[in-house]
Amino acid sequence: MMEIGVSPGRTSYRRGRQADAVVEDTRCAVAELIGVPDPSSISFTSNATHALNVAIRGSLREGDHAVTSDREHNSVLRPLEDLRRTGACVYSVVRSDPRGEVDLDAYRKEVRRGCQLMVINHASNVTGAVSPLSELADIAHEYDVPILVDASQTAGLLDIDVEALGIDLLALTGHKSLRGPSGTGVLYVRRPEKVRALFTGGSGTNSQSLRHPAMSPAKFEAGTPNYLGIAGLGAVVRTLTPQRIREDRKQVMAVSDYCLERLRSVAGVTVYDVAPNVARVPVISITMAGLYSGELSALLDERYGVMTRAGLHCAPLIHETLGTTPHGTLRISMGVSTTRSDVDVLVEGLASIEETTVRGMKTP
Ligand SMILES: Cc1ncc(COP(=O)(O)O)c(C=O)c1O
Repeated sequence: MMEIGVSPGRTSYRRGRQADAVVEDTRCAVAELIGVPDPSSISFTSNATHALNVAIRGSLREGDHAVTSDREHNSVLRPLEDLRRTGACVYSVVRSDPRGEVDLDAYRKEVRRGCQLMVINHASNVTGAVSPLSELADIAHEYDVPILVDASQTAGLLDIDVEALGIDLLALTGHKSLRGPSGTGVLYVRRPEKVRALFTGGSGTNSQSLRHPAMSPAKFEAGTPNYLGIAGLGAVVRTLTPQRIREDRKQVMAVSDYCLERLRSVAGVTVYDVAPNVARVPVISITMAGLYSGELSALLDERYGVMTRAGLHCAPLIHETLGTTPHGTLRISMGVSTTRSDVDVLVEGLASIEETTVRGMKTP
């Protein structure tokens, strides 16, 4: 803002060109991060929800059928439900087992019945279970169905190579493991001609035409972009070399494993862990008998300064699978700055709440 302070893509004066360069550098850095050979297939959006809406609503046509999973966030489920309610499309939900195991045959069956889009979460934001992306992409491609991946929980944490996996569309958010500014998102579209633009308007190019540009990224970037957010996203993504991602992942998963181990011994706590053969990201859901997750979260914050999130985490269907509807779970998320002593404070806090508040409550 201080050094450039003008909009990108609209002017040819020097600062305008500098602003363009910031946006294009970020585009290249993001493309490299997720294995995209052509940076122009990366568009900036205001968040993952925006990217998922463009991908879902822009890909599906009247009468189409989509297949998705019970691990999805509402940013996938609500656009699909909206299309269903207006009579435009139908969708089926393939359930996983409570420990994150995926029935690949169930997906194959749905896809074989005739389907135009598979929408899959790379990792659940409730249980942390990682989806078998490569196997699911193989099924989709066997039947020539495009696959849309919601990588909101994994970008910057797990290796993603859209080219190697043959992913057709991918959405991600800037503010999670990428550690970028909130209000930034990315949409990757392999074949822009197959996806309608949800928004049309100013693009800074070909302005004599009343038709919005058909080429990516302009096709999916109507209006002035969040230039500051994109600059911030670029600054952080450039630091995320494959080696740094690997090292950070090792560190955060070690803390997360330690947390899981310690949580198992806290009285009254149920841990919604994944099966040993299912990979996971560092989010853990728990409940404590005798307390709603919202109450537990408030006590952890008030008494121990531990911030956790409570409820359904915008992913209602996975709670039906886990049996945690309607109150949801307490979710513990760890990042690179989380330490074992942070985990100790959490676990000791939980043990003390169980002893004093839950058991205290039971005593007349
Ligand atoms: C798996 C998943 N998908 C989508 C989203 C939505 O991200 P955004 O808030 O950037 O739209 C989230 C955010 O919590 C998420 O965890």
